[in-house]
Amino acid sequence: MRKTTLFSLQIAAALIAATASPVLAAGDAAAGRRTAETWCAGCHLLGDENKAAMVDVPPFPVIAQQKTADAIRAFLFNPHPPMPQFRLTRQDIEDLVQFIVELKKP
Ligand code: HEC
Repeated sequence: MRKTTLFSLQIAAALIAATASPVLAAGDAAAGRRTAETWCAGCHLLGDENKAAMVDVPPFPVIAQQKTADAIRAFLFNPHPPMPQFRLTRQDIEDLVQFIVELKKP
């Protein structure tokens, strides 16, 4: 009995340590692309392949050349008009930032 209790305590402690960690999973560019295709592609060019975006909206590859990851992240946390207010999770934002910065050409 005692051993089992100790063991479950250790599992509980490990779980708490894992969930209490403030570190976000690093952005996942593939997930970011899927989010972008859903929420952003109506206005922004995501890459060279979709041509249906609006004029006057900076294409993501252009944003990638001009902005740092921090600037893009800060903007997405607090977008201003004409950008709509999205309900993005922090993970969505990390994924989108990763997707956009990877479009940057060396
Ligand atoms: C309704 C059209 C629309 C949608 C949808 C949209 N955007 Fe934008 N976005 C704009 C426009 C217009 C600008 C230019 C704003 C400006 O220059 O003030 C912009 C600018 C930006 C910028 C650059 C901001 C800067 O500092 O220059 C980023 C980054 C961005 N959008 C990301 C996104 C992401 C990510 C999504 C999807 C989650 C998205 N946008 C969806 C219209 C849109």
